[in-house]
Amino acid sequence: MRPSIKEILAMKPEEKSRTVSGWVRTRRDSKNVCFFELSDGSCLKNLQVIVDKEKYNPEALLSKLTTGAGVEVDGILVESPGQNQPVELQAAEIRLLGEAPADSYPLQKKRHSFEFLREIAHLRPRTNALGAVTRVRSAASYAVHKFYQERGFFYIHTPIISASDCEGAGEMFQVTTLDLNNIPKEDGKVDYSKDFFGKQASLTVSGQLEAEIYAMSHSNVYTFGPTFRAENSNTARHLAEFWMIEPEMAFCNLDGDMDVAEDFIKYVIKYVLENCAEDMDLFNKFIEKGIVESLRSVVDSDFHRVTYTEAVRELEKNTGSFEFKPSWGADLQSEHEKFLTEKVFGGPVIVTDYPKEIKAFYMKMNDDGKTVRAMDVLVPRLGEIIGGSQREDSLDRLTARLEEMNLDKKDYWWYLDLRRYGSVPHAGFGLGFERLIQYLTGMQNIRDVIPFPRTVHSAEF
Ligand code: 4AD
Ligand code: MG
Repeated sequence: MRPSIKEILAMKPEEKSRTVSGWVRTRRDSKNVCFFELSDGSCLKNLQVIVDKEKYNPEALLSKLTTGAGVEVDGILVESPGQNQPVELQAAEIRLLGEAPADSYPLQKKRHSFEFLREIAHLRPRTNALGAVTRVRSAASYAVHKFYQERGFFYIHTPIISASDCEGAGEMFQVTTLDLNNIPKEDGKVDYSKDFFGKQASLTVSGQLEAEIYAMSHSNVYTFGPTFRAENSNTARHLAEFWMIEPEMAFCNLDGDMDVAEDFIKYVIKYVLENCAEDMDLFNKFIEKGIVESLRSVVDSDFHRVTYTEAVRELEKNTGSFEFKPSWGADLQSEHEKFLTEKVFGGPVIVTDYPKEIKAFYMKMNDDGKTVRAMDVLVPRLGEIIGGSQREDSLDRLTARLEEMNLDKKDYWWYLDLRRYGSVPHAGFGLGFERLIQYLTGMQNIRDVIPFPRTVHSAEF
């Protein structure tokens, strides 16, 4: 393989000719010289290519070296007199691989709005900001695996098509091969026995329940995969298809769960700061001023930990600041979460022990009978980024919870079996990967940190 532009920019000037490929990002001309910047996506910086118009003069070709064109250049790497780069390429031979006519190629301006770029998701990774997001996202994915693999967790591929609703929120996309124009019915109801799986099936909202199965054989496991939610939430933090990392640990309680969550977030931040410095500098300058410093301080300090009851008490002191009045028993709104992290604690906060009514059936009941061993990690700018809990490990209490919540025990027979045979304390959580990328980059809209966003009324490609 040819060295990437990232590698070339780290090289010393050399005598021999080499070939470089990429896309033209910008171009400027003086009387005798044409300068163009070449990018191949390997890093934020471009390689400057210098063309001596007199020595190298096929005019027809030079006029086609416009923004977006794909080219291959043979030349000599020389020391650059400019401030911006140590080396530049003195072109000897240029081959146009694919032109990008200036009158129709959409990426002409230096800065386009993110809204505009969303409409051309097939071209937006060629911009500086989205290019940087792409590299940070890749580095963060690697850091996720590295964190768990270094700690002996096993990566479990949980199913994408699932027959159970983990969160019990009824926000699932159905998967069916039934003819929607001619649905088979029995007593007025859809006859799913005629469907592909012989029962109702959906896209998974979470790999947790299946991860629990493997935690009960392999102790420490994690999933990292796509999850789907038919939530009708048109916000800058919700997607219909998002990626989630879900560790599940046997012989672990809520404190252990919080420790892993905190270590995990800090690890990924640190990895990205160390390995994506140039891209982080772009976010620091143009997207969220001061983000690098604030992430650094997150790595160096402890997350605050408060109970839901304490958090609500804090919020009640400031009722005037909110659209939704905080009150014990109601779920925290995102304005409340932001207030806690930004105004009260000035950093990430873990809120624990929520009322059972606002949390899922599988969370372990506290002795008060009112709250559950839940924890949400909240961060400035975004609010919730992790949701987790210690799981209910008692068969009786879990059965009672399913009944209380009108969930059909038959659908969860295997989940109940885990409490019947060798049940041990265990805990886990889910980190929304796109929210983490928003947190790391300061990008305001979740649609801009995933290559192909799916949201209400929007799925192109
Ligand atoms: O809090 P949630 O719903 O928790 C679960 O799914 C648990 N089963 C996790 C577990 O314990 N294994 O979702 C976890 C995280 C949220 O904190 C949020 O970061 C993200 O997933 N998330 C979304 N991200 C983008 N778009 C959405 N619609 C999201 N819904 C949840
Ligand atoms: Mg949640």
